[in-house]
Amino acid sequence: MKISFKINGDQKTIDVDPNMPLLWVVRDELNLKATKYGCGKGMCGACSLHVDGKLHRSCSYPVKFAEGKAITTLEGLSKNENDLHPVQQAWIDENVPQCGYCQPGFMMAAAKLLQEIPNPTTEDIKQNISNICRCGTQPRIIKAIKRAAELNNAKTS
Ligand code: FES
Ligand code: FES
Repeated sequence: MKISFKINGDQKTIDVDPNMPLLWVVRDELNLKATKYGCGKGMCGACSLHVDGKLHRSCSYPVKFAEGKAITTLEGLSKNENDLHPVQQAWIDENVPQCGYCQPGFMMAAAKLLQEIPNPTTEDIKQNISNICRCGTQPRIIKAIKRAAELNNAKTS
């Protein structure tokens, strides 16, 4: 089945099984490798991306639902490396990743959280981001999200 959508600003049409998880389409059909496979069951958040501005776990999102929509992966969060998204800059500033595997999913969740709660508290972050990091980087992630909020506020003021 042919399915058309925008991804990171580019219009794409692919011909795949409509029930294929969006994660496989992004990684294997479109060769965008930032979005990761973790549990495959919607539990860990490694596969998080945005569809029409909403956060989704792409391992559990059949591609047929993306028809006509706009998808953003970590590769499309900023236009280029000279104009990083505040979340990306904050992740660098706070030196967040360890193995790095879970980090794209956390960054997409963080970007969405900041749209909804511009100045999140530690409690807001813990309540709204249920992604899993097996390397124990959560304390740095919390610091980085608060740093991203500061950068975001400085950008928009
Ligand atoms: S791989 Fe999708 S939630 Fe774990
Ligand atoms: S940095 Fe290794 S799983 Fe999170």
